[in-house]
Order: sequence, then C-alpha cells, then structure tokens
Amino acid sequence: IRDHSEKLPLRNKKIIVTAGGTKERIDPVRYITNDSSGKMGHALAVEAWKRGAEVVLISASHLATPDYITRVPVESAEEMLRTVTDEFDDADAVIMAAAVSDYAPATVEKQKMKKKDSLTLSFRKNPDILKSLGEKKKPDQLLIGFAAETEDLIRYAEKKLNDKNADLIIANDVGKKDRGFNVDENEVTMLSRKSEPVTISLRSKSDVSVEVIDWLVTNMN
Ligand code: CTP
Ligand code: CA
Repeated sequence: IRDHSEKLPLRNKKIIVTAGGTKERIDPVRYITNDSSGKMGHALAVEAWKRGAEVVLISASHLATPDYITRVPVESAEEMLRTVTDEFDDADAVIMAAAVSDYAPATVEKQKMKKKDSLTLSFRKNPDILKSLGEKKKPDQLLIGFAAETEDLIRYAEKKLNDKNADLIIANDVGKKDRGFNVDENEVTMLSRKSEPVTISLRSKSDVSVEVIDWLVTNMN
C-alpha cells in the first residue's frame, strides 16, 4: 500500500510519532489518563510510512498497528520522554500527537491501595517532552506538536508554537463530541511560523494526516 506513483518523498527520513494518552500509575492496578485514543497519532504514522519514511511510533495507546510500523509501547510521560530522547538524535522530524499527562502521582504505591473513607492524591508536574526537544533540536529537525484546547484555540496554539520552539502546531478543539479525542474525525488549524494559519475542515483522521504529512514533505529538506 506504499504510494509508488510518486517517488516516495520521505524515503530515508526517520520520523518519530508519539500517540495516545499517557498512563500515570497510582498503584499496581490503577492509573490516571485522559480521553486520547491514539487514533490521530496512529493515522499520522501510517501516512508518513506511505510516503516512504522510516517511522518509529512511540505509543501509549492500545490500538493495533500494521506490522510494517516499528512500534515502541510506553506507558508514562517519563517513559515516553526517555524513549523519544533515545530516538531523537538521527530523527528528521518528531510529531508529538500524544496527549501527555501534565501531572503524575507524587508517589506510586507498591501495593494495591486499600479502601478508606476518602482519598486525596498529590501530583507532581511531568516533563514537557516537546519543549525539551525544542530546546535541543538541530536546524534541520522539524518538530510538530498539537494544541488540545477547549477555548481560545488559536491564541493558545500560537503561544505553544513559540514557547515550545515547534515548527508546526496543530490546533485541536477537544471540547466538541464529534472531533478530537477518541473519535474517528478531526478538524484542525495548522499554525506555522512562515505562513498564515490553515484550517482543515472536519474529516477523517487519515485525511487530516494527509494534510499534515504534505506540510512535512513541503518543509523538509
Ligand atoms: N506535550 C509534551 N509533554 C507534556 C505535555 C504536552 O510533549 N508534558 C506536548 C503534546 O504532545 C502536544 C503539545 O505538547 O504536542 C501541547 O500539549 P497540550 O496539552 O495542548 O499543551 P500543554 O503545553 O501541556 O499546556 P496546557 O495543557 O496547559 O494547555
Ligand atoms: Ca497538557
């Protein structure tokens, strides 16, 4: 199913894609996570592969993947950071489609916690993976992030583009039921440094991926 009609524009390019909502352990049988399914990240991985890229999919999702995609399963944000960092040096692009948990439980209980009358958990902040990549990326490495918002989509997305030193931010309204987290369709606005924002109207996540990977092909040297 690789597209041989054109001459595979991403041949010899290594692209890291992260996907899914990270799971942050509370005890051996419990964790906190979010509504991200991994569908957007997995669709991007497949589309990048179709254009000839070597794809490393670092996924916190349970979704199945075609066997031609190299997949590294991860659970927590810390684990995702280590895995992405290990793969980053010779990567040409990273697409951070994962919904990385902003916090993790401050302590992880070794045994299953016993029921009490009430429970208060305390959390520590997780590392910002995209930001850390933005701080050390080389000029020829491209960084694509998402901005999951329920309000002020474009303003917050622009701030993320700058704060994280990304090349492209895909702004994603996650406050509506028919798009974004855990469904098959998405509507996004792509923000880059060089051009005006481009809105990709509501369509399947694989069709959204075509637009994102087109951007990558155009902006990759
Ligand atoms: N991200 C990351 N590491 C984190 C949190 C987010 O790499 N600890 C990445 C996500 O994969 C996404 C981008 O940063 O590509 C933006 O994530 P988002 O949750 O929208 O933004 P945050 O920076 O976490 O800010 P906030 O949740 O407060 O909006
Ligand atoms: Ca966040």
